[in-house]
Amino acid sequence: MGFTFSTMTLNLLLLIAMVATNILSLYHLSTTLQSPKSSPKPLPQIPDELLRQLHTIRATINHLTRLQDTNPNPNTKSSIPSDLLLYSHLSPIASSCHNHPDLLHKYMTYTPFSLCPSDSELAESLILRGCHPLPRRRCFSPTPKKQTPSSSFPHNPFPSSLPDSSVIWDRYSCKSFDCLNRQNPNLGFQPSRETSKFTTYTSDLDLPVQQLLQIAKSAKSVLRLGLDVGGGTGSFAAAMKLRNVTVVTTTMNVVAPYSEAVALRGLVPLHVPLQQRLPIFDGVVDIVRCGRAVNRWIPATMLEFLLFDVDRVLRGGGYLWLDHFFSKGVDLEKVYAPLIGKLGYKKVKWATGNKTDAGGVKNGELYLTVLLQKPLSR
Ligand SMILES: *[C@@H]1O[C@H](CO)[C@@H](O)[C@H](O)[C@H]1NC(C)=O
Ligand SMILES: *[C@@H]1O[C@H](CO)[C@@H](O)[C@H](O)[C@H]1NC(C)=O
Repeated sequence: MGFTFSTMTLNLLLLIAMVATNILSLYHLSTTLQSPKSSPKPLPQIPDELLRQLHTIRATINHLTRLQDTNPNPNTKSSIPSDLLLYSHLSPIASSCHNHPDLLHKYMTYTPFSLCPSDSELAESLILRGCHPLPRRRCFSPTPKKQTPSSSFPHNPFPSSLPDSSVIWDRYSCKSFDCLNRQNPNLGFQPSRETSKFTTYTSDLDLPVQQLLQIAKSAKSVLRLGLDVGGGTGSFAAAMKLRNVTVVTTTMNVVAPYSEAVALRGLVPLHVPLQQRLPIFDGVVDIVRCGRAVNRWIPATMLEFLLFDVDRVLRGGGYLWLDHFFSKGVDLEKVYAPLIGKLGYKKVKWATGNKTDAGGVKNGELYLTVLLQKPLSR
């Protein structure tokens, strides 16, 4: 009788404790979110933020439950990889990493000081979910077998072909650059086909680099350093390299080895997802180009943060080039033009045109190409 009573009491106490802590954390959340100094308009953000927090809590509980179920030895507290525990003492881990404990634990489960697992796909999944920068590991990343000697790598950023043997193809369905080119010749994996991409003018949506440099020159500005956001295989950086302008390219290896292709062209790939703060200091670059990867599929708020981060890295008088940004025709006027307007930049070029491919026609999409100049001083 006494035993049953105390078990019941214990259970009841546990229940009360659980409810109390949950209510407390909700209270804490709502007070911190509603405090007036946190942001000028906090109210619309609460549901999203709450959902995210709840999602994190649920992911953690699920993970812990699974750990408990699969852990036959109750003396080992959990199966958190030891290098993850060690790393977390040395350096912070991006909070979004913790939303995906399964992936994170898998990524950090390896044998230190030996060859890393072939898991670049796993790394990419984590990065795309906001787990960036990834925690460091103490292992050797695999290199391709039978590599082409680097002395034969092209110096010209528009070579007729790229060496297949410099890529680890395991995770891709294609096993060569030729295969990628056959699947879609527009992906940029045959650099020699890209030579005219940034030098020809077929419609008002184009801005050939000669014209771009001329615009800067006549504004008594100079282009020496640039950033290409979502720049695929790096053809903009390549075109600028021929004109002695240094451009780095952010790119992800989604479905194909974009980073390797950029590097094989002698250009710098930055492995950074679109939602991430640009790894560049404030006010130092002359031009930022956003290619087609930046488009209406990015939620408007996220796009706003992206554009303001671009503003941060641009120097006064620097240029922002949105190249073939696409959106639905109605949204261009209602959403995107006002959003771009918030930057307060000078409009150097503003051109729109119909997106005439199947998807564009179906969704009533327009292209927008704009060149904007950041004010010299604020
Ligand atoms: C780029 O720099 C090289 C070496 O300084 C020079 O020979 C070449 O003319 C320059 N090209 C352009 C387009 O300015
Ligand atoms: C673009 O599309 C609209 C409607 O679909 C059409 O009225 C207009 O003429 C097109 N413009 C051009 C330049 O083709």
